[in-house]
Amino acid sequence: MNTRILTTSEYDISLAGQILREGGLVAFPTETVYGLGANALDENAVKNIYIAKGRPSDNPLIVHVADKADIAPLVKEITPKAQALIDAFFPNALTIILKKSELIGNVVSGGLDTVAVRMPENEVAQRVIRASGCPIAAPSANTSGLPSPTKAKYVIDDMSGKIDAIIDGGDCKFGVESTVITLATDTPTILRPGAVTKEMIESVIGEVNVSRAVLEGMRQDEVAESPGMKYKHYSPNARVVIVDADKETYENFVNSRKDAFALCFEGDNVNIPYVTFGRENDDLSQASELFTALRKLDEMGAKKVYARIPNTDGVGMAVYNRLIRAAAFTVIDLKKPFTIGVTGPSGAGKGYICKYLSELGFNIIDCDTVVKNIYNDNFQLLEKLAEEFGNDIIRAGELDRSKLGEIVFADRDKLSKLNSIVHPVVEKRCEELSKIPCVLDAPQLFEAKLQSKCYKIICVTADENIRLDRIMRRDGISLDKARERINSQLSEKYYIENSDYVVYNNGEDIKTQIDNILEEIL
Ligand code: TXA
Ligand code: MG
Repeated sequence: MNTRILTTSEYDISLAGQILREGGLVAFPTETVYGLGANALDENAVKNIYIAKGRPSDNPLIVHVADKADIAPLVKEITPKAQALIDAFFPNALTIILKKSELIGNVVSGGLDTVAVRMPENEVAQRVIRASGCPIAAPSANTSGLPSPTKAKYVIDDMSGKIDAIIDGGDCKFGVESTVITLATDTPTILRPGAVTKEMIESVIGEVNVSRAVLEGMRQDEVAESPGMKYKHYSPNARVVIVDADKETYENFVNSRKDAFALCFEGDNVNIPYVTFGRENDDLSQASELFTALRKLDEMGAKKVYARIPNTDGVGMAVYNRLIRAAAFTVIDLKKPFTIGVTGPSGAGKGYICKYLSELGFNIIDCDTVVKNIYNDNFQLLEKLAEEFGNDIIRAGELDRSKLGEIVFADRDKLSKLNSIVHPVVEKRCEELSKIPCVLDAPQLFEAKLQSKCYKIICVTADENIRLDRIMRRDGISLDKARERINSQLSEKYYIENSDYVVYNNGEDIKTQIDNILEEIL
C-alpha cells in the first residue's frame, strides 16, 4: 500500500476525512501522541487498525469526537461525575470510560461492555474528525509494543506501507498518551496516568483510585482492569534499567558503567553516551521528550540504558508509568545503601578484584586498613590485647602486627580470642562507613560476622598451589608458613558455601566474571 503523507492544508484535511469515511486508515497528530484513526462505527475499518499495529484484538480502542454533543450516542448514560469531567477537561488529554451504547461494536471495545471516549484539543485532530463526519477510533500510531509516536517521522517509520495516509502536523504537545479513567466502576479509577493529573481530577469529582498496575507490575494471576496494562509497552530494543538515586549518585554510577547509555536529565554531568528526557523537577518537559528519547536510544544502537528516576507526582506519574514499562519494571535502588562483601581465602587475589570494582565506581572499604586504624587510635583496645597476648606485642606505643601474627597464626585458640576482641569493633566501624553503596574488602568477613551487613557476598578464590605461591611471594615467607596461614583460616569450601557468588582467580578473565555477577546483583 502506498501511504500518502498529507499536510494540514484544507485540501489535505478534507481528503483525510474522505479516506476515513470510506473505511480507510489515517494517522493524525493530537496533543498527546499521534493517533491511528478509523471510522469507529465501521467494524471492518477498525479491524484494520489492529492489523496495521499488530495489536492484540482484546485491547480496546479510544473513540475520539470533536464535539461534546457527539458523546451521548456512544454511551448508555453520561453519569454526573462523567458530566463534571467533560465540563472541566474536554477537550484535553483525558479519556473517560463509560458503559457503551448499541452503536459501539465488539471490535472497537475489545469485547467489553464499556467504551473509552476522548475529545482531543489539538486543532488538526479536531479538523480531521469533523471532516470525516464520524467518531474516530484511534490508538497511538505506533507498532504495538513500541514507544508511542510524538513526531510524524516515527509514524512514518512504523506505519509506512500499512495505512492510507499520515498527516504531518508537527510535534505533539504533551508527548504521553491521555489519562484514562473509568467511571464504569463504583469508585472512579485511573487506569493510565497522563497530563490531566490525579490532583486535577480530584479537584473536580473528589477522591479517585489509581489502579495498582499504574506504578507496579501486574501479578501473574491478576485480571487487567484495562487490557492494555497486561501487554508489553514502550519498550525500545535496548534493555532499560531505572536508577533510583539522587543526581550525584546517579552520575557517579553511570559514569562508571562501560558499554552503557544514560537516559538522563538536561545538565546531568554524564560522560558516557546519553540522551536526555527533559529537565529535573519539570514533569511536562520529561513527558514531552520521553518517547522521542527512547526511540533515539535505539537509533544510537544502545544495548543497555540506565535511566534517571522521575518524580511520581503530577504529570511525573505518567512519565514514571511509561518509563517503568520501558524498563520492564527493573529498578536499581541506590537510595537504600547496600554493601557487597568480597572475601575469600588468603592469596586468592581479592585486592585485584576490589581494584576493578573501585574502577567501576564502587566505594571500597578495606577492612585490613580499618583494623589497622582501629589498633592505632583505640588505646583501650591495645591495652586489652596486651593484657591477653603480653606486652611484647606493643612496640613504641604501637601494635607490632607481625609479633601478634606470629602468636595467633600458630595457635587457633589465640586466634579466636583475638577475633572475639577485635571483630565487634570492626563490625561497628564498618557499619558507620557503609552508609552508601560500597564494597567491603573483608578477608575475615565471616569471622567478623559482617555477612548480615552485606546485600550480597562474592567469594574470590584460586587453586591452593596458586594461593600458596602468592602468599609466599607477597609476604616473603616459607611454604610451611604459608600453609600454616591457610590452615589457620576457614576452608575454601566454607567460603564458597556461604557466599552468593564465586570468582575464580586462576588467571581466567576476571573482569567478565565480575561484570556478569554485577549484572545479576544490580
Ligand atoms: O492520548 C491518547 O489516548 C492516544 C491518542 C491517539 O488519543 N490514544 C491512545 O490509545 O493512547 P491506545 O489505544 O494506545 O491506548 C488506549 C488505552 C489502552 O491501554 C486500552 O487498554 C485502554 O486505553 N482502554 C480503551 N478502552 C478501554 C475500556 N473500555 N476499558 C478499559 N480500558 C480501555
Ligand atoms: Mg498505545
